[in-house]
Amino acid sequence: MTASSENGTLFSHVKEGDTPWRSDGLRDFFLYRDLGVADATHGRVIAHLVKANKPPEEGTGWHRHVADFQIVLMTKGWAKFMYEDQETLVKAGDCVHQRPGIRHYLFDYSPDMEYLEIVSPAMFGTVDTDAPCEVPTPAAWPPQAIAAAQAQQDAQENPQAA
Ligand SMILES: [Fe+2]
Repeated sequence: MTASSENGTLFSHVKEGDTPWRSDGLRDFFLYRDLGVADATHGRVIAHLVKANKPPEEGTGWHRHVADFQIVLMTKGWAKFMYEDQETLVKAGDCVHQRPGIRHYLFDYSPDMEYLEIVSPAMFGTVDTDAPCEVPTPAAWPPQAIAAAQAQQDAQENPQAA
């Protein structure tokens, strides 16, 4: 990283492979890859990639985030959210601004789902909330997708064997 700009943030260029996919993020059914923005902005903003690691079961549950700013840009596949009482299909190419405090529930996603999430601050909070409405049951993944997810999890847990 090079010298800081007027506001103290740093130049950063994180390449594919520079940061690993991690399984110890907020949700155990997703993998997370940090893109270096939290370090470069000293925690003002986090940008990370999120992808499916296990088939949908319980989903995220109803929650809200304690944050100033949050967007989700779907880059592959799709995910289904409840935003308050609105069922919302978010597909590759779609961008959602999750206004601070909105109650939501990610309940279904495709095996190839991947999205970029940008949140400020980097250490944003997550708070469980009451349920404003019922949530649909997720669709089952095809057997090949379940097998591929299992192989990805095995590789994640035992990288030397991969
Ligand atoms: Fe969320």
